[in-house]
This record gives sequence, structure tokens and C-alpha cells, in this order.
Amino acid sequence: MKVLVTGGTGYIGSHTVVELIEQGYEPVIIDNLSNSKIKVLDGIKAISDIKPRFEKFDICDIESLDKFFENNRDIKAIIHFAAFKAVGESVEKPLLYYYNNLVSLMNLLRAMKKYNIANIIFSSSCTVYGDTEELPVTENSPVLPAQSPYGNTKQIAEEILSDHAASHKDFNSISLRYFNPIGAHPSAHIGELPIGEPENLVPYITQTGIGIRKELQVFGNNYNTPDGTAIRDYLHVVDLAKAHVVALKRLIDRSNKRNYEVFNLGTGKGVSVLEMIESFNRVSGLSLNYKIVDRRPGDVEKIWADTSYSAKELRWETESSLDEAIKTAWDWEKRLAKEK
Ligand code: NAD
Ligand code: UFG
Repeated sequence: MKVLVTGGTGYIGSHTVVELIEQGYEPVIIDNLSNSKIKVLDGIKAISDIKPRFEKFDICDIESLDKFFENNRDIKAIIHFAAFKAVGESVEKPLLYYYNNLVSLMNLLRAMKKYNIANIIFSSSCTVYGDTEELPVTENSPVLPAQSPYGNTKQIAEEILSDHAASHKDFNSISLRYFNPIGAHPSAHIGELPIGEPENLVPYITQTGIGIRKELQVFGNNYNTPDGTAIRDYLHVVDLAKAHVVALKRLIDRSNKRNYEVFNLGTGKGVSVLEMIESFNRVSGLSLNYKIVDRRPGDVEKIWADTSYSAKELRWETESSLDEAIKTAWDWEKRLAKEK
């Protein structure tokens, strides 16, 4: 079965493509390579023995998208990863984020109607819960005002999907609210490839460990948490990728309860920044160089998932431990260093 994976050469997309191939699906990737590299396809081939079909264009370009679907009438489902994701950049360039993240979705939804494609999985984020007081957050926790234009694109996209589902009974959709994906494929053939200085914690840690960065800045140690540093729910990207295959099966065999559903994808466990550093030290045998600095504007204090609904409905739970996930991130960083 052919599945369109938008953003399939990106971080989460590439790991999902590997899992799709493993489960017998035929992923077809569209990516404009704005935040990924074509050589990711070689990494996928090294793992799966198959180089997935790839088309390079921008999904905001409706004519190219139309041409694509004209030539691929047998696509049965879409997994939509393609979006811009840098929170800080979205504050500086909100229109870029609203345009790319929402026009891409609108184009896909219109094409789905035109070409009779029923199923779509959307990459959402725990950022939709904003600065929540309810912990852990359940899928029914309130969606609070967005902390950034990026977060707002995810909230609006979810509303678009929900409204569209309400008016189109034959449309089938799932939003997956990711918590913090980390790590790489255990083969170290694919992983996160941050362009420029990483914004996210784990690539910053591994780049510091390998010597690309001088030290990690820990953003704040005066939060209301046991060690004062902020808490997140970090899950292994391979576990996250597997959840997409589960959600896809749910849509295709129509075992979904409603035609728009939302699931949290996390471990259910909150981990502080200092605990992340300790894990890295355990795994690498190094002692990471870090210093405490001011809080980063826009950061929430703590958030982790209530995973009971996804465990019950999707029968999906994370399998990797934190140390295992960090080890794969470290192996990937070492692999990148060797290739240089
Ligand atoms: P990524 O940047 O590695 O992958 C996104 C891919 O989409 C990139 O390869 C990029 O080139 C492509 N792309 C972007 N706009 C495009 C367009 N208009 N047309 C074609 N291709 C386009 O990001 P990721 O970490 O793999 O994230 C995937 C999705 O998950 C995104 O929607 C992101 O917002 C969401 N998400 C990510 C995280 C995270 O921490 N990584 C957390 C929550 C949600
Ligand atoms: N952190 C540091 N130093 C760094 C980088 C991060 O101390 O150099 C801290 C942050 O302050 C935060 C934690 O590490 O407490 C995690 O930060 P990340 O940037 O890795 O992740 P965020 O939780 O801020 O954001 C991620 C994604 C967003 C998404 C959000 C919620 O990057 O796209 O999760 O899903 F919106």
C-alpha cells in the first residue's frame, strides 16, 4: 500500500519511513529539502535495503502537488510531517510559519478531496497545551493560548482538521501530539541533522560532547521542580515512528472511533535538564561541560504526557529507556564526526 510521507527526509519522517518499509508499506516521500538532506535516502536504504521514491518540491505549490496526485492515483494515506519547527524563528518570522505550516495542510486536504484519499495523520505537538497546570496532560486537557506562532500553527491545524472531519464523514484523520522526540536509529544510519546551531537540548548535548560546541547552556535552574531545571517528556524517535504505523493501521482498517482523533505520544515520565546531562554522562563516560544561564523566553516549566489513552486505544507504548535513547543520539553524533 502506497503512503505519501511529506517531510519524509526530515528527522521524524525518515525514521517513520524505515518503520513503514519494515511493515510492508510503500512510502513515497515529498520534501523540498528546506531542512533536510537528500543523503538521508542513502541512510534509509542502508537500513531497509530499499530506497524510497522521492520527489523534491514544496507542498505549498499546489500545481506541483496536483501533478503529483495525478500521477499517483494509488496513494491510500498521507502522513504529514512537513512543516517548519523552530520555535524562536517563528517568533521572528511568523508569516513564514503560518504560510508554510498551514498552506501545506490546506493544499493536502483539498487534494485529498479531489483525489479521493481518505486518511491523514498530522504531526502535532504537546506545545498545544501551552503553559499547562494539569500534569500529566491528557488529550482532554485544555488547549491554552499558544506560546509562539509555531505553536499556534499546530493549534490552528488541529482546528482545521477537526472542522473538516465534522463536515466530511468519509474523511479520516488523526493528530499525534508528540512530546520531545530524541535519539536516532540504532544503526546510526539516520538521525537528527540540525542545520546550524541546534535549538534542541539533545543535539546540543551531543555536539558539546563531541567538541563542536564549547558548553551547554542550561536555561534556568530556578523553576519549581525538584532540581530547579525544566522538565520534559523525552521519547525515542524510533518509538515515535512506530506509533505512526499503528495510527495508520487504525485509519486504514477503520478501527478509529471518530473521524478526527487526537493522541498524546510520550513516555509519561518527566525528566529534568540536569537528569538529561546525567544520562548523557552515564552513556558516554564523559563529564559534559555546562553552565546555568537565564531561562529561555517562552519555555514552559514542566510538561509530561498522560499516556493511558494512547496505550489503551492504540496499544502503543514507548519501549526504549532514556539511556538507550541518548546512547543512539551519541552513536549518531560520533558517526557524523567520523564522516567529516
Ligand atoms: P524536520 O525539519 O526534520 O522535518 C520536516 C521536513 O519537512 C524537512 O525535511 C523539511 O525539508 C520538510 N518541509 C518543510 N516544509 C516543507 C514544504 N512546504 N514542502 C515540502 N517539504 C517541506 O522536522 P521533524 O523534527 O522531523 O518534525 C516533523 C514534524 O513533527 C513537524 O511538523 C514538526 O512541527 C512536528 N513536531 C516535531 C517535534 C520535534 O521536537 N522534532 C515536536 C513536536 C512536533
Ligand atoms: N534546553 C537547555 N539548553 C539548550 C536547549 C534546551 O537548557 O541549549 C532546555 C530547554 O530550556 C527545555 C529543555 O531543554 O527546558 C528542552 O528544550 P528543547 O528545545 O529540546 O525542547 P522544547 O520542549 O523547548 O521544544 C520541543 C520542540 C518544539 C515543540 C515543543 C513542544 O523543539 O518544536 O517541544 O512539543 F513545540
